[in-house]
Amino acid sequence: MKTLVVMNEKGGVGKTNIVAHAGWYFAERYRTLVVDLDQQANLTMTLGAHLSTVESVELFAEVTRVPSAGALTVTRSTRDLLGVEGVDRACIETFRDSLAGMADDYDVCIIDTPPALTNRTFGALLAASAVLAPIGINDYSLAGIAELLRAIKGVSAYYKRPEPQFLGLLPSLYDRKSRREREMFEELAGHVGKLLFPGVVAKRDLYARAAGEREPVWTMKGASAREAGAEIRAIFETVDQKMELAHG
Ligand SMILES: Nc1ncnc2c1ncn2[C@@H]1O[C@H](COP(=O)(O)OP(=O)(O)OP(=O)(O)O)[C@@H](O)[C@H]1O
Ligand SMILES: [Mg+2]
Repeated sequence: MKTLVVMNEKGGVGKTNIVAHAGWYFAERYRTLVVDLDQQANLTMTLGAHLSTVESVELFAEVTRVPSAGALTVTRSTRDLLGVEGVDRACIETFRDSLAGMADDYDVCIIDTPPALTNRTFGALLAASAVLAPIGINDYSLAGIAELLRAIKGVSAYYKRPEPQFLGLLPSLYDRKSRREREMFEELAGHVGKLLFPGVVAKRDLYARAAGEREPVWTMKGASAREAGAEIRAIFETVDQKMELAHG
């Protein structure tokens, strides 16, 4: 099993939208586990058709296995996740051990993180094979990006483990029609071009509908749904290749 962590300390940058679609996408070809670590539980709502009886918080409490609920299995977020922040750091290692114990049960695990650099996000990083960082264009800050990269390096250094593969910064609410956004995107590319993921998720009303209707954009009707589907599926195809998921 390889583990993809979707993180950015910044809120509302499209993390949960990407994890939901990644879950749907990867479940077409792999045994897929999705872990919702955000107590806001938006992902738990959107992927509600695939919920396990296991709550995400249990993975931190003791080494826990999640029985498969089909091609896609989702551990639910609860308010109890906030409790993970109050306890010592040992729970982080328990979370890592829970995932390690499922190495043969799933091909890929995708983790949605809360918008904070706290125990839960550190636990996710400790278990990560790869990290994808959705970003906004309007409100990006180079300081925020540096902080994100520091957190990834810091967790690996502290626990003396190899760093996860950094897949890149992925503009996830990109408004192509806005000249200002296009200019800011160019500026961002100039500063951190090498860190950018090859692709963007455009800003589209369809994504809010996808979350509400609990279905991916590519199963919706219409030309713009087809366009959105092609765009976001291409991103996951690249993730699949970069993580070499087909090679186990
Ligand atoms: N590409 C997009 N186009 C339009 N709306 C989007 C897009 N991506 C996400 N959204 C919407 O923007 C809002 C924030 O997105 P999302 O919940 O995925 O962000 P997040 O980074 O997970 O937020 P948080 O940090 O609060 O967990 C949601 O209402 C979502 O439906
Ligand atoms: Mg979220």
